[in-house]
Amino acid sequence: MVSDELPCPEEELPVNVPYHVAIIMDGNGRWAQSRGLPRQAGHEAGTENLRRIIRACVEFGVKVLTIYAFSTENWGRPRWEIRALLHILENVIDKELNELYAEGVQLRHLGELDRLPAGLQRKVRRAIERTQHNDRLIVNVAFNYGGRDEIVRAVQHIVAEGVPANEITEDLISSHLYTAGLPDPDLIIRTSGEQRISNFLIWQGAYSEHFYTPVLWPDFDREEFRKALVAFGVRERRFGTLEPHRN
Ligand code: FPP
Repeated sequence: MVSDELPCPEEELPVNVPYHVAIIMDGNGRWAQSRGLPRQAGHEAGTENLRRIIRACVEFGVKVLTIYAFSTENWGRPRWEIRALLHILENVIDKELNELYAEGVQLRHLGELDRLPAGLQRKVRRAIERTQHNDRLIVNVAFNYGGRDEIVRAVQHIVAEGVPANEITEDLISSHLYTAGLPDPDLIIRTSGEQRISNFLIWQGAYSEHFYTPVLWPDFDREEFRKALVAFGVRERRFGTLEPHRN
């Protein structure tokens, strides 16, 4: 951690820290536009910010971070922007993997790799394999990910396995999702003022708390993240029952 990120003595640190935080990193384009910069500059600033948030997760004790980096719908963006986002993923693996490894980060991928260039698919698989035994923070990168697509694929696998209809349970479906074995997200954050879930973790997020902020993703720094965790810490979750459940 760099010294300018040390907490102030009077700073309120989050309590009841969520185990699993998922983030819709929205607002890169508007961040760039407001500065007269190309959209790509917004994605680059967003990537810089991701580093800050990964460090903050380690600092505050979040154990799983899931980020929505590229949705199945994002293929509808202009080709140059798709290329820029693919390039960012490749760059992160090329330039950041050693540091992420040293920080104890385990990288995972949510989504289908098949639409990515073959070389990038190999790099993603190698990064996953290299970090698989790290346990300080799991970072799930949702890239070419869609929640409905994930559920359809899970059901297809279950049917292909020949499971009888009366043996299909919620646990069975969960175990066929990309997040198999991980707890559901406790908190889903969306930046930039939009208040919708956009096909992100629609099964896993059934009982997640939501936190929406007008702050654009490149500006959603450690301090903003801390505020989101503090707000989560005082929420009462009941999971459909009458019993309050402390986080
Ligand atoms: C949404 O903002 C953001 C994205 C579609 C891309 C998010 C990607 C990053 C933050 C880079 C990190 C990526 C990887 C692969 C590690 P938007 O561009 O739609 O913003 P706008 O709504 O203001 O136009």
